[in-house]
This record gives sequence, structure tokens and C-alpha cells, in this order.
Amino acid sequence: MGHPYWPLFDLRVRTPRLELRYPDDDDIVALAALAASGIHPPDFMPFAVPWSTEPSPKLERESLQHFWKSRGEFTPAKWGVPFAIVCGGEIVGNQTVHAADFPVTRAVESGSWLGQAHQGKGIGKEMRAAMLHFAFAGLGAQVAYSGAWHDNPASLGVSKALGYRTNGDRILPRLDTATRMINLKLTRATWEKHRRDDIVIEGLDACLDLFGLAGDPAAV
Ligand SMILES: CC(C)(COP(=O)(O)OP(=O)(O)OC[C@H]1O[C@@H](n2cnc3c(N)ncnc32)[C@H](O)[C@@H]1OP(=O)(O)O)[C@@H](O)C(=O)NCCC(=O)NCCS
Repeated sequence: MGHPYWPLFDLRVRTPRLELRYPDDDDIVALAALAASGIHPPDFMPFAVPWSTEPSPKLERESLQHFWKSRGEFTPAKWGVPFAIVCGGEIVGNQTVHAADFPVTRAVESGSWLGQAHQGKGIGKEMRAAMLHFAFAGLGAQVAYSGAWHDNPASLGVSKALGYRTNGDRILPRLDTATRMINLKLTRATWEKHRRDDIVIEGLDACLDLFGLAGDPAAV
């Protein structure tokens, strides 16, 4: 029996290696604790907003607020799905997909992180592939955007491996330093060439009206 009012709680994307699930309150506590245990070395800031270096317990509390906010502000016009990544029975990271005016634009953006102990083992690529399957096969997306600092080879490596192309750049502040953010873009046509047949989406039908996609022929 699914959740009576918030079917997103039953949304899952499964690959042979891991599960993406819409996080409940226990999951977001686990994600907050994982973030506080370390995502990156102290001398490298991978994010545009430097949330990950806040002291504990501020970091954990602000993480919880971030996830609650995403739930509270979910509308068909502007939504975010901050999937928890479960690998080997353990929460190892976060893969978010978000969009504005999706029924019109058919465009999604994404962001992700893994606990440091889980990096460099192919999990980042696998969870992004699962998110892309959700967006393209599940929601009927036409394009996926991403972005990474020029000096983040792991994030750029995930994008490159999945077929994203560079799409210009921007100079943005990173802490107090002007830094180049590389924009990335994956079209549906390119995704189709790489698409996998071993990724399964569960529980999306019941969520389609939340995405403003009930009855939409492009969505699953
Ligand atoms: C970015 C992140 C999610 C990537 O996940 P990951 O599991 O470490 O990456 P993977 O092991 O799946 O590697 C994916 C690809 O990038 C390459 N790669 C990974 N780390 C790399 C590194 N340090 N240098 C060069 N290439 C690297 C891999 O070789 C692989 O390419 P391939 O499939 O062609 O062999 C993870 O490293 C992370 O959480 N980093 C800190 C937070 C962060 O940077 N978030 C993104 C902000 S834009």
C-alpha cells in the first residue's frame, strides 16, 4: 500500500547496482549525517553554494531544512526530486533532478554528491545514468543540463562518460575567487544512443499529476 497523499515517497529508480529513492525523514537524517562526515577535501569546494563546510550540527540542520523545503515547495511549475542513493543496503549519496516549467520546456537540471568513502567506484556514473533514465524515459524530457567547476574532474568525468557535451561556461564566485563553471548539455537524441535497458522506474504513475504530466503521452 503506497502513501495515501504523497506518492513521491514510493518513487524508486533501480539499476542492477543501486536504488534511487525519494527520501523520507529517516533517509534525510542519514543523508545529513553522511554529508557531515565529509564529501570533499577541505581545500576543494565542488559546490556553487559552499554548504558542505558548515560546522556540525548547523550543516545537518540546514541539510534537513533543504530537503523539507524541496518537499514543501514541490509544484508542477517548479519541482525537485532529491533522490537518496542506496547501494549495498546503505545510503551513500544524493542525486537531485529539478526543473522549472517542465511540461513546456522538457528540460531538467541535476546535482549530486557522494560520501567521500564511496567516490571513485563508478557509483556517481551509475546514479546519474539512473536519474537520466527517470527524466528521459519516465518524464519524457528532451534535454538535461548540468554544470561543474573546471577543476572537478570526477563530475566532468561522469558527464562526459554519459554523453553530455560542453555548452559554454560562466565565471561565478567560488568562495572569494572568480572560477569557471563549465555548462553541460545532454540531448534526448544522444541519450537514446546510450540508453540502458536494465533500469526500472517504480511508482511514477501515481506521481504524474504532481509533475503536471497526468495523461501526457511523452511520460511513462
Ligand atoms: C562527482 C561525483 C558524484 C562523481 O562520482 P564518482 O562515483 O566519484 O565517479 P565515478 O567513479 O562514477 O567516475 C565517473 C567517471 O569519471 C572519471 N573520474 C572519476 N573521478 C575522477 C578523477 N578524480 N579524475 C579524473 N577522472 C575521474 C571516471 O574514470 C569515470 O569515467 P569512465 O566511466 O570514463 O571511466 C563524486 O566524485 C562526488 O561526490 N564528488 C564530490 C562532490 C561533487 O563534486 N559533486 C558534483 C558537484 S558539480
